[in-house]
Amino acid sequence: MSEFVVTATGLTRVYEVRRGPLRASAQLTAVGGISFTLAAGRTLAVVGESGCGKSSLGRVVSLIEKPSAGSLQLTGMDAVAASPGEQRTLRRAVQMVFQNPYGSLNPRKKIGAILEAPLAINTTLPPAEREARARRMLAMVGLRPEHFDRYPHMFSGGQRQRIAIARALMLGPALVVADEPVSALDVSVQAQVLNLLADLQQDLGVAYLFISHDLAVVRYIAHDVLVMYLGLAMEQGPKERIFVRPLHPYTRALLASTPALGGVGKERIVLTGELPSPLDPPAGCVFSTRCPHADDRCRAQRPGLRLLDGRQVACHHAERLAGPVPEDNAGLSLH
Ligand SMILES: Nc1ncnc2c1ncn2[C@@H]1O[C@H](COP(=O)(O)OP(=O)(O)OP(=O)(O)O)[C@@H](O)[C@H]1O
Ligand SMILES: [Mg+2]
Repeated sequence: MSEFVVTATGLTRVYEVRRGPLRASAQLTAVGGISFTLAAGRTLAVVGESGCGKSSLGRVVSLIEKPSAGSLQLTGMDAVAASPGEQRTLRRAVQMVFQNPYGSLNPRKKIGAILEAPLAINTTLPPAEREARARRMLAMVGLRPEHFDRYPHMFSGGQRQRIAIARALMLGPALVVADEPVSALDVSVQAQVLNLLADLQQDLGVAYLFISHDLAVVRYIAHDVLVMYLGLAMEQGPKERIFVRPLHPYTRALLASTPALGGVGKERIVLTGELPSPLDPPAGCVFSTRCPHADDRCRAQRPGLRLLDGRQVACHHAERLAGPVPEDNAGLSLH
């Protein structure tokens, strides 16, 4: 079996979009060839502005949608070529948590029934064992025994997200794809749910694909980071490398625009200009229309990812722009 829970190679997702009754449909590349590996007990955070393809990538990795191209291995199995039986196994191994748990919790069902449902559908466990497991999971996510018989509307947003996490973990998945799981919560509640996710990962060894536009959240939860722009990876690698010394101008702009991180470095790149349409991405580097450092080469030739200072970066000028290695980079400590 593969050492990785996820091995994605050139994952691509193209949508057919209609632009009007009389116009031919167009192809929108939401995910344009993303590659990564994710090991058990690790968290890969996917970051980038709205529309860069984070959720599309999440839907492909969680088997909600098929990739248009590329390969996807989950727990050592080829997810694209999987037989129906293998697909059932894989669907249990990969679970999702969404931004709005209220939308995904049946309002007419008590929490106990919601947690038992995955076991009832996917296993032959007797009712008493299902209930015992659901009650154990309720405790694991920090809810109380009396919550078992309550309805979703009786909970706060943070508690509802705990329930959604509990439900996602009922079948013992190897991977949880969490799409903006704390974005709808107050900051203080965010921290509690993030702590819970980290504790559960420690105890269960589950891997997370954690989708977020909030770099302060990502800095807390991630081991590795994938920065996306218009469906492409701009920079990806270990969190410490990327937060201490971001090399891509887009990563630097995202960090500079996150007040909670106080900006990084002296240079403040401000993101100006509109995000280009994904139906008509810029030639050359897709970030070139908004990059203050773009030159003719950037506008003509698309940079591929290359290894630099312990991470991958897709920028022709990464060395020149990054400057010298900061002295405090040696320990790479953020804390
Ligand atoms: N089912 C679909 N049909 C057509 N286009 C789609 C579909 N889903 C997503 N897109 C397009 O794909 C691109 C990526 O969308 P996606 O939802 O993956 O972005 P995102 O990074 O999750 O954004 P956000 O931060 O707003 O959630 C967007 O241009 C979006 O309009
Ligand atoms: Mg999204």
